[in-house]
Amino acid sequence: MKLCVIPGDGIGGEVITAARTVLTTMLPEVTITEAEAGWHTFQQTGTALPEATLSAAQQADAVLFGAVASPSHPVDGYRSPIVALRRALDLYANIRPTVSYKVVPGVPPVDLIVVRENTEGLYAGRERLEDNGNTAITERVVTRRGTERIVQQACTLASQRPRRKLTLVHKANVLRVSDGLFRSIALEVAQQYPTVTVEELLVDTAAMHIARSPERFDVVVTTNLFGDILSDVACIHGGGLGLASSANLGEQQALFEPVHGAAPDIAGQGIANPLAALGCLVLLFEWLAHRHTDTLTYHLLAQSLRAAIATTLREGPFTPDLGGTATTHDVIQAILDRLF
Ligand code: NAI
Ligand code: MG
Repeated sequence: MKLCVIPGDGIGGEVITAARTVLTTMLPEVTITEAEAGWHTFQQTGTALPEATLSAAQQADAVLFGAVASPSHPVDGYRSPIVALRRALDLYANIRPTVSYKVVPGVPPVDLIVVRENTEGLYAGRERLEDNGNTAITERVVTRRGTERIVQQACTLASQRPRRKLTLVHKANVLRVSDGLFRSIALEVAQQYPTVTVEELLVDTAAMHIARSPERFDVVVTTNLFGDILSDVACIHGGGLGLASSANLGEQQALFEPVHGAAPDIAGQGIANPLAALGCLVLLFEWLAHRHTDTLTYHLLAQSLRAAIATTLREGPFTPDLGGTATTHDVIQAILDRLF
């Protein structure tokens, strides 16, 4: 297996170094190519996603990505490398699972997946200024192909889960054209999955329900920006950003990344929670299990790491985001001790 590793900025490097240690212990035969991207790279080379990084990613089976620090103010020549990578590799499905990290008696457990369209919507990159810089326009792109494939992916996932429930989230009452198309194609596609129960929610109502009663959700499918926001809301129920992992899936390749960013407030202190990055390895093993002949090996690796993470979430050590005082290194040591 050829893996391209892109640590990025801030705690991206810290959690990816940690994940690399665990990965090479569990799968010594993995071939790793390390490549650079992000704000630091932009400042040094003038581009946030160098050609060499893009080609390393294209040549790998999969990519493990840390986080990058994208400035919120416009910077000439800077574009978010993760958004660019998702588009360049055509990783159209962003899969963001949330599972309750603690079982609390009397509280229904959460087990939901946000399936976010990853290549179009408001993140299609079609932005411009008009009227001498006094009007800003961002185009929202929804295509039949883009919608069909994301909803197929979501329906397939839902049909393999015990509850077989799909929630279609949109704002078609206001965004009549773009979400109108998304909604009608999604309903058309969902009809081809008779075992899946489909419900629809407007995005604002969906946000309230995900915050208040997340246990009612199974698989949620939506457009790019809505999925970005709703999955961050959902991840609170899974123990916060330090535990949220995601997979970006294409036809051939996949990219795995923690949902969190570069966390400048804690970068360099050695206290970043590495469990979101380790959760990415679980998703990587599961993805490999699906596409490989050596299915059993990868299933066992996923199972073993998932169990080590679960034990660590019960017994510690805990990094400060989970109320403890442990370092990234302490957590990794505990995980290594609990593997196999
Ligand atoms: P962030 O996710 O970096 O941090 C939000 C809060 O969560 C911070 O208080 C941080 O300390 C905490 N946190 C995040 N991950 C953690 C971890 N593993 N362990 C412990 N605490 C953790 O989001 P923020 O602050 O909005 O953005 C910071 C920078 O990251 C920005 O430049 C932004 O553009 C970038 N970013 C990059 C993403 C990516 O590369 N995919 C995603 C989100 C933000
Ligand atoms: Mg986000």
